[in-house]
Amino acid sequence: MTVFLPIPLPCRRLVGLGLLITAAALLTQTAQAEADIAAGEALFKRVCGNCHNVGPGARAAFGPQLNGIFGRHAGATRDYRYSPAMQQADLVWDRDTLSAFIKDSDSVVPGNKMRFWGIGDQQKIDSLLLYLKAQQDH
Ligand code: HEC
Repeated sequence: MTVFLPIPLPCRRLVGLGLLITAAALLTQTAQAEADIAAGEALFKRVCGNCHNVGPGARAAFGPQLNGIFGRHAGATRDYRYSPAMQQADLVWDRDTLSAFIKDSDSVVPGNKMRFWGIGDQQKIDSLLLYLKAQQDH
């Protein structure tokens, strides 16, 4: 025997509404999980900008300028006095080395002189890197 349980109309509406909300929540989640260049710029200005310049005419400040950082050898700008550790670091900055350095600079270049507490959130790092990548040609 089949038991037929009709769902009352208001209930069905609720189910529909629930599905809509779930879909909306999923959509916002995916949007948030993506790296965001504007967020990266804001983050750069707030946390890295105290020590670093980037963009047209950027010069060394408390830290080296970061134009064209992707593919740049560590410790390579001419107008900045690096720590011996950074001068001797045999590495080229790319997405992986930069991510790791921003998370925990000492794990990548032990004894370097960048005093920065680090950012753990990969999504924030991705946004930052997206912004830095847009500064490659300066
Ligand atoms: C408190 C100042 C300070 C802050 C904040 C800071 N840095 Fe630095 N950074 C430095 C200094 C100083 C060096 C040079 C380190 C050395 O010579 O050992 C450096 C070096 C670097 C280098 C290596 C550059 C090269 O030419 O090899 C990168 C890349 C870098 N920082 C990225 C960042 C990013 C991205 C942020 C923000 C998330 C940041 N830094 C925040 C001071 C800072």
